[in-house]
Amino acid sequence: MSDTTEPTVAEQRSIAISGMMADARSNREANSHLIEAVRQDPDLAESVRQELCADLRRVFELPRELFPPSASRERYRQHGHYSEQLIRYTIGTHAEFKRRAGLDETMADKRVYSNISKTLRAQDVMHYAEKHVKPWDGAYDRLDMTAEQVVLQIGSDWHSRYTDPFGLRVWGEVRDMVKPDGLRYNGDMVDFPKLSKHRQLPGHFPLTIKQEADSFVNPVMRADREACPDADMKIIMGNHDARLVYALAEAPNALYQLGEYAGYDKMFCLDELEVGLVAKSTFLNPTERMKRRDIAKNWEVLYDSNGQPFWTTVHGFLTGTGSAMKHLVKFMTNGTNGHMHNPETASSGTLATGPVRWFQTGCMAFPHGVGDEYMPGPIEASGWATTFIVARLFPRHRHVAVEECHIGRSMAYFGGYTWEITPEEMDQRQAMLEV
Ligand SMILES: [Fe+2]
Ligand SMILES: [Fe+2]
Repeated sequence: MSDTTEPTVAEQRSIAISGMMADARSNREANSHLIEAVRQDPDLAESVRQELCADLRRVFELPRELFPPSASRERYRQHGHYSEQLIRYTIGTHAEFKRRAGLDETMADKRVYSNISKTLRAQDVMHYAEKHVKPWDGAYDRLDMTAEQVVLQIGSDWHSRYTDPFGLRVWGEVRDMVKPDGLRYNGDMVDFPKLSKHRQLPGHFPLTIKQEADSFVNPVMRADREACPDADMKIIMGNHDARLVYALAEAPNALYQLGEYAGYDKMFCLDELEVGLVAKSTFLNPTERMKRRDIAKNWEVLYDSNGQPFWTTVHGFLTGTGSAMKHLVKFMTNGTNGHMHNPETASSGTLATGPVRWFQTGCMAFPHGVGDEYMPGPIEASGWATTFIVARLFPRHRHVAVEECHIGRSMAYFGGYTWEITPEEMDQRQAMLEV
């Protein structure tokens, strides 16, 4: 008969829970005077807190067959022997209640654990950089600063597939004219953050990281090496390049599965093309802020014939109006920076240094291609322009003669020669805007 059968497990559970809740309710009533008692005698507060914490631990340990362990606010409201008001009055938040009851990590504990993890992750990146980046810092040095004249061709902010096709052709032909002793790729060779965004666009055929690197290595560095077999070629790492190192170091498993895991050195064919890096950063940076500061410590200084600092090449880390002058003041040598994408020059000096000149290059990227997504208003208004420089250094005289090549909408000029854009190059620019 149904009225003589034993209750089911579910029924037993619900009876037990109702009983416990009724019990908790009567306890809360019995303890309801406590809030007034603590108001009257604040010295009681500490012992009340201890009672509260003991009670939260009791709730947490309610029989496993009835509940999974929890010290949530909801659970305590149902089964706690004290009112929420009392908790608020003596302890404050529920999170603090849990911490005091030893059921949650304290803020300080959390910070210590998170620092351990962050440091560990930072060490992984540093080890990656020690293996795949740092050994090429200063590799393949070939400049002779005792020569009467040293010619450098310097371009910054290539942003891989946003490199301006017309600009790249002019870069190559100017290179063949001036036969530089050194070529400087002054930062942002790749455009890594955009790559990850593209991956999220459904149906968009993504470029792999390797393709991204190749789109700089082959048309730029490989072509330069073929044209200038003896030149001193250097990559000065910028913020986007550093980001790529972090990505390669931090996600080896995911990238390996995508068939994209590679050493930074191999990806940029450093040994094959005999290209060195300027990579002074430690890559040991547990925080975002430290990452930014670390890459801002990356520059190359060339010395005059008396061994005095003479020419600095830095990707750039000082922004805002007058950024060329800001860099000049920081280094007080002749020099160049990129990063801003708008060309600027500055002139200053001291009694000790003599006059010094500074040249902020535009970008080697097509400004509309690289800037469309995040620059408000017309790109023209930003002053962004495709430019590179040829710097003739005279170390014995501490003199520099710098010529800029500006690649415009349809033409470019350098050293008595003019170039005009081809229809194919115009199409390639247009294609960059159609993502
Ligand atoms: Fe850039
Ligand atoms: Fe940059």
